Amino acid sequence: MTSLVPGLNGGNAGGTAGAAKPWALPPDVDVATPSPARMYDYYLGGKDYFAAGREAAEKALSVVPDGRRVARENRRFLVRAVSHIARRGIDQFIDFGTGIPTSPNVHEAARSIIPQASVAYVDNDPIVIVHGRALLESAGGGTAAVRGDIRYPLNILANHAVRDVIDFERPLGLLFVAVLHFVTDEERPYRAVATFRDRVAPGSYIAVSHITSDGTSPHVVSTIENAYRNASAPAVFRTRMEVERFFNGFELVRPGIADISDWRSGHIGALIAAPLDQASDPTAALAHALARTRPRTATPRTASERGPARRGRLWICQARTA
Ligand SMILES: C[S@@+](CC[C@H](N)C(=O)[O-])C[C@H]1O[C@@H](n2cnc3c(N)ncnc32)[C@H](O)[C@@H]1O
Repeated sequence: MTSLVPGLNGGNAGGTAGAAKPWALPPDVDVATPSPARMYDYYLGGKDYFAAGREAAEKALSVVPDGRRVARENRRFLVRAVSHIARRGIDQFIDFGTGIPTSPNVHEAARSIIPQASVAYVDNDPIVIVHGRALLESAGGGTAAVRGDIRYPLNILANHAVRDVIDFERPLGLLFVAVLHFVTDEERPYRAVATFRDRVAPGSYIAVSHITSDGTSPHVVSTIENAYRNASAPAVFRTRMEVERFFNGFELVRPGIADISDWRSGHIGALIAAPLDQASDPTAALAHALARTRPRTATPRTASERGPARRGRLWICQARTA
């Protein structure tokens, strides 16, 4: 995608300003500070990064040479999660930590199944919002790009643009794909997810992907942490058990624990945790999972309450509700 923001594209003078409109760089963008959105754009082969972000991203890639594939597989997980949820009749989504638009975007994936599906895109990076709004001009309504921070969930829930496209009385898909690892424990990511969980209608889904420290060498963890140390958000590795905690109050059910080949062959709801540096298959290099809210009267049964997994670091689960 051609950059919509003059000055982007690796910090080259002038950058690429391919859009018809003369977009100005948002005033609160600090080009010297790498941002997760622009570093991710670099991994994905986009054009919307500055030199500082490119250098930080290269540092991370130096210990995860397959990092670009990991990023692409993460996008595939996002699209498959959206498709899976939409096929179950869910026609509205909130995409937290949207990132710079990458096709297919959530509304494109959802609308290939439910043409009237609506999507609220939420991100705290101003450049993401500039791009998101430009993209959505042609989306034909039912979408919004909202500057919001998942550390402040009540602000997002109260946001008029979000409420214009999302009906909280009906089930929806909550997408936390590659975003929760930019929120430290002190910033209470578990509480943020729980706030959304408690506000959505039963039958809603949650999809999560997250970098995991399970089995990853301390050198890789510390190099990546260092690469993000001067970024606008830190990289926070969590263990598989810590990632599972995000699913408290959600129920992971059939087909239960399964093999990665089941995930590849079309099952979704994979909770996969593999070392970033040792993953022979980048599909397995992040923790990914999908779950559905359980009936409000049901006995809590989360992934961690199910006990240890049977097959090393790989779990595939689907979830049900009333
Ligand atoms: C690695 S990108 C992921 C993009 C997309 N979800 C995907 O998986 O392809 C992470 C995104 O999360 C956003 N982000 C980081 N911290 C955030 C926060 N506290 N609130 C909202 N968005 C955040 C970043 O700006 C960035 O766009």
